[in-house]
Amino acid sequence: MISLRFIPFLLLLSFFGEAVGRPLYQLPSKIQDKHLEPLQSFRPYNIAHRGSNGEIPEETIAAYTRAIEEGADFIETDILATKDGALICFHDVTLDAITDIADHKEFASRKTTYEVQGVNVTGWFIVDFTLDELKTLTVKQRFAFRDSQYNGEFSIITFEEFISIALNANRIVGIYPEIKNPVLINQHVKWADGKRFEDKFVETLLKYGYKGEYKSKEWKAKPVFIVFRSNFLVYISKLTNSPKILLIDDVDIPTQDTNQTYAEITTDSYFAYIKDYVVGIGPWKDNIVLTKNNHLTVATDLVAKAHAHNLQVHPYTFRNENQFLHFDFHQDPYVEYDYWVNFIGVDGLFTDFTGSLHQYQEWADPSKPEKNLPNVLSKISAVISSYKHN
Ligand SMILES: *[C@@H]1O[C@H](CO)[C@@H](O)[C@H](O)[C@H]1NC(C)=O
Ligand SMILES: *[C@@H]1O[C@H](CO)[C@@H](O)[C@H](O)[C@H]1NC(C)=O
Repeated sequence: MISLRFIPFLLLLSFFGEAVGRPLYQLPSKIQDKHLEPLQSFRPYNIAHRGSNGEIPEETIAAYTRAIEEGADFIETDILATKDGALICFHDVTLDAITDIADHKEFASRKTTYEVQGVNVTGWFIVDFTLDELKTLTVKQRFAFRDSQYNGEFSIITFEEFISIALNANRIVGIYPEIKNPVLINQHVKWADGKRFEDKFVETLLKYGYKGEYKSKEWKAKPVFIVFRSNFLVYISKLTNSPKILLIDDVDIPTQDTNQTYAEITTDSYFAYIKDYVVGIGPWKDNIVLTKNNHLTVATDLVAKAHAHNLQVHPYTFRNENQFLHFDFHQDPYVEYDYWVNFIGVDGLFTDFTGSLHQYQEWADPSKPEKNLPNVLSKISAVISSYKHN
C-alpha cells in the first residue's frame, strides 16, 4: 500500500484521478508509534473546514491531504450514514448539490422526498444508497466561482478513510468530525446490532484510539473534537470522554431535537450547564459580530460569556472570496484573520482556505523573528552601522 508522506500533492491528484472509488489507505495506520511533531498549542487552531475545500472539492482525500500540507491543525468533516450502515464523510443529506448523481441514469428512480427538520426536501438521499453505490459517484465544487478543474476526480470517502488520512500524516493532525442529522439518520438507517448512529460514530473513534479528555496524553497523541448540535448532549457524553464542541446554528434555526432557540442556548445559565459536557462552542461568526449591509456593526458579548465559563470559541466559516469578506476587511482575508485572532480573541477558526490562515499565523508569529519586520530593520541598521564604522 502507499504511504502518503512520500507522494507530492500533484502526483497524488493524478493518481487519485485514475483511482476514484478504490480505498487508498492501509487501515489502520501502520505508523502510529513513530515520533511525530505534536499539535501546536500556542495559537488558535487552524481547522480545515471540509478539507482545503476552497481549492479542492470538499471532504475528499485530496482536499484533506492538501489541508494537511498547508498546515491544518485539525481536519473537519461531517458524518452521515449509508443505507447499509457505513459512516461516510458528506455534508448534505442529499447528493444533488455536489455530486454527479444526476448523470447516473441507473439511480434516477431513487429521487424522493423526505421531511428533514420539519421541511420537505426532495433529492437523492444518502440514506437510500449503499456505500458501493456511493463510491461510483464523484464530487464537485459547491460554488461555481471556485476552481472546477478537480470536479469529477474524487469520490466520497468513509469515516475510516478520513481517520486514516489524519493518522498517516507526517505530524500530529487532529480530526474534527460532526455527527450530522442524527434524527434523520436514525429514522432511515438501522444497524444489525440495534445500535444507533451515535453509537456507531463513537465506536469508530474508539476503534482508532481516539479517547481521553482535552489535552490528556491520549488526546495529544490523537487529538479530536467531536461536534454536535444540541442533540444527545448527555447521551454522547456517556459514550466517550473526548472533548466536544456544541455547534450553534444561525439565530433563526431551532435545535433539532430539543427545539431550543439560539437565544436559549447562548445564555449564561445554558453555558453553565453545558460546560460539564463540552469544551467549547462553534458559532457562526456573524452572530458573534453582527453585520449590516456587509459592514460589521456590534460585537456581542458571546465570546466573553463563553470564556467566562471556560468554553473555547471556534467560529465558522472563514473564506477568502470577496463575496464572503465584510467590507471592513478591505477584501483582505489576512485583515479578517487579524481581527478575529487579535481583537475578538477566538480559540480556533474554521476556514475553507487552510493555507491562507496558516500563512497569516506564520507571518504574525512573534517567535519567528526572521519574519518580524522590526527585527529585519534592526539587522539592516546593524549592517549599515558596521559599514559606517569601517
Ligand atoms: C411533506 O409532504 C407530505 C406529503 O405530501 C405532507 O403530508 C407533509 O405535511 C409535508 N410536510 C411538511 C413539513 O410540509
Ligand atoms: C418549536 O418551538 C417553536 C417556538 O417556540 C414552536 O412554534 C414550534 O411549534 C416548536 N416545534 C416543535 C416541533 O415542537
